[in-house]
Amino acid sequence: MKSIAIIGAGYVGLVSGACFSDLGNKVTCVDINEQRIANLNKGMMPIFEPGLEELVRRNVGAKRLYFTTSYEEALTDAEYVFIAVGTPSDVDGQADLRYVRMAAESIADVMDHYLIIVNKSTVPVGTGDWLAEIVRSRRPDVPDFDVVSCPEFLREGAAISDFMNPDRVILGSTNREAAERVAQVHLPLRTKLMLTDLRTAEMVKYASNAFLATKISFINEIANICEALGADVKEVAYGMGLDRRIGHAFLDAGLGWGGSCFPKDVKALASMAEVESRHPHLLHAVMDINRDQRHSPLRKIENFLGRDLRGTVIGILGLSFKPNTDDMREAPSLEIIRNLQRKGAAVRAYDPVAMENAKRLLSDVEMMGSPYEVADGADALVLVTEWNEFKNLDLARVKESMRQPILVDGRNIYDPVAAGNLGFQYSGIGRGYEGRGTKHPLD
Ligand code: NAD
Ligand code: UGA
Repeated sequence: MKSIAIIGAGYVGLVSGACFSDLGNKVTCVDINEQRIANLNKGMMPIFEPGLEELVRRNVGAKRLYFTTSYEEALTDAEYVFIAVGTPSDVDGQADLRYVRMAAESIADVMDHYLIIVNKSTVPVGTGDWLAEIVRSRRPDVPDFDVVSCPEFLREGAAISDFMNPDRVILGSTNREAAERVAQVHLPLRTKLMLTDLRTAEMVKYASNAFLATKISFINEIANICEALGADVKEVAYGMGLDRRIGHAFLDAGLGWGGSCFPKDVKALASMAEVESRHPHLLHAVMDINRDQRHSPLRKIENFLGRDLRGTVIGILGLSFKPNTDDMREAPSLEIIRNLQRKGAAVRAYDPVAMENAKRLLSDVEMMGSPYEVADGADALVLVTEWNEFKNLDLARVKESMRQPILVDGRNIYDPVAAGNLGFQYSGIGRGYEGRGTKHPLD
């Protein structure tokens, strides 16, 4: 059993804390948000993440997992302190490190024995050295400490299983012994461990997120070309993915990538390059394609209607940036809805879990109790987030209740031919054969 403190009880901190405690360690999570800690101590989760509530309950019950607002309490007997605070974009697109700085200062203020400070937040290359400098200059008297970078690769909605079954754990430090000690904590995960230097570990995280975002923008660009030339991007992606050098993952064309990480991390990487007078052409193209992708539903609805959107009612299925989360950060739905409203449409929406969070960010959107209520009397439906419950909708019932049967499938979950046969004016993303009749070309 190791004694671990985690700074920040958000997606990464809370999930890491719950998982490390489940692996038999004693974990104390610290957060400056008093309400969050009070709720966690009552068993109330601050986020929707499948399996999290039960995992937290089990480990709190076993007296391995604790929540506090006190750094002193959390660090008393800690051997490792993991930083997992937010690193949002600042106005210039660079990572805002104010929470990391605060965390480092608070650690320094209470530290009274050797500690390994492990940074899990996504931070610009060089931050590990900067962090060490903050602690050293604030507490020249402390026994000693080491800084290890251990970037996190979990995805929201699948966070627990991603944490427990990672493809790799990257550990960067100037002190190999410290990195090896952090490796010990990860041994039960039975995964590949890569030990490297601090800056390289920090860069692995940005390069990985930027590459995944690039894959998605690439397939979205191909989707737009498919649409013009009459090919089907779903089958194109499948055919490409059969090549083991390419693979199938992250080749789902759609309304573009959102969330709390890809947008800010691609921007931050581009900024890092620009500060060093490098020109990140590819990263800019990746961001541009993503921005354009969000305009496609509006364009498609206007094409089907043959007029502008004034006086129409548009229904939105799914609000969160991806399924299985209530996270609305940089959700494509936000921009899509605001653009529809700007063009004069009245918007109504349904999401299984994100409506409360969405209400805080959107105005004049009528939140409905089910997808069928959204469809009733609507002029068009836009599927924005591919929640499972939308995959088996009774589309005949949906079509019957709509004022006009326009269906824009922003995540390609419906069969274009079947939708066409039901009488929908259907458009997916990059499904080029959809306008060619009521039969699949190979039937
Ligand atoms: P989050 O916003 O969900 O949580 C951050 C938490 O830190 C909040 O509860 C906040 O109150 C707390 N906090 C802020 N300053 C603090 C301080 N000085 N002391 C104690 N607590 C403090 O953030 P997140 O989504 O968990 O992201 C954290 C970091 O991990 C970011 O750098 C992010 O890029 C990275 N990351 C996130 C994910 C993800 O899926 N969300 C995955 C991998 C990496
Ligand atoms: C992403 C990465 O996948 C994680 O490895 C990383 O740890 C995390 O960012 C982070 O650094 O925070 P996450 O944002 O939770 O995880 O979700 P993803 O599943 O990667 O989806 C991101 C966005 O891309 C979503 O909007 C999703 O709809 C979109 N996407 C994903 C596609 O449009 N097509 C795809 O094929 C895959």
